[in-house]
Amino acid sequence: MKTVALCLAMVCCAARGAFAAADPATTFARNCSSCHTFGRGVLVGPDLKGVTDRHGRAWLASWISSSETVIASGDRTATALFEKFSKQRMPDQRLSPGEVTALLDYLAAGGPELDARRRERSAEDATPAEIGMGRALFAGERALARGGASCASCHRASNEPAGGTLGPDLSRSYARFHDKGLTTILSRGCFPRSKRGLTEQEAFALRAYLRHSAAIGQ
Ligand code: HEC
Ligand code: HEC
Repeated sequence: MKTVALCLAMVCCAARGAFAAADPATTFARNCSSCHTFGRGVLVGPDLKGVTDRHGRAWLASWISSSETVIASGDRTATALFEKFSKQRMPDQRLSPGEVTALLDYLAAGGPELDARRRERSAEDATPAEIGMGRALFAGERALARGGASCASCHRASNEPAGGTLGPDLSRSYARFHDKGLTTILSRGCFPRSKRGLTEQEAFALRAYLRHSAAIGQ
């Protein structure tokens, strides 16, 4: 019995270790969005748009890990918030310091509102930096936030020196699917990456890169 429990514990630890910390968009969707919007008004708790301007980073990190501790310390801002929201307590969030930093950076940069705009944006409007990010993601020079093999391990694209052949050649994919179709394919994830998905920033950068590489490859 003991051996089985130990093995299970080891498998669990190994499995946990295998996954990188959650990316901030996932953290927000999973841990915060049931009570907070970003730019859409009060839900159970306040709208978090601009929250990184309303409070300092250290205060925010303490609040997120345990609002009760901050309230109990007699902090004025915290007690006022608690009173305003009918003494409804925000549950403690079990996030690593790295996840909290990434989440606050994400919110400060525009959060879910910026992600929604990225989904709607045409790849024609991409900046050179965004195209460069897409190329690095495609080739595997930059790791995907949610993990998984690089696109080039299964696909070729115009102007890519190397690429796999398990998946179709993507040289003409922008011309075929355009922004809307590609957004759908990338959010669904192609076989067999189906469960992983991309962040909105990555999906936009990849669309931009596929459009750009086809344009200069002709
Ligand atoms: C179950 C609901 C709930 C969840 C889940 C939740 N919160 Fe809250 N949050 C609240 C409430 C309610 C308040 C208002 C203060 C109070 O009543 O304690 C609040 C307040 C805040 C504040 C202060 C906002 C301001 O305008 O000053 C921040 C920052 C915050 N939450 C961040 C987060 C983050 C980040 C997450 C996810 C990691 C999260 N919350 C998850 C309910 C929640
Ligand atoms: C492990 C191999 C593998 C990886 C890694 C992979 N793909 Fe795919 N992809 C496939 C296969 C196989 C298909 C065809 C079946 C399908 O559509 O699911 C495909 C289909 C596609 C299609 C549709 C193309 C068409 O002509 O129908 C696009 C677009 C695409 N992948 C983009 C990407 C991007 C961008 C990445 C990197 C984020 C990526 N893929 C990573 C294997 C892969």
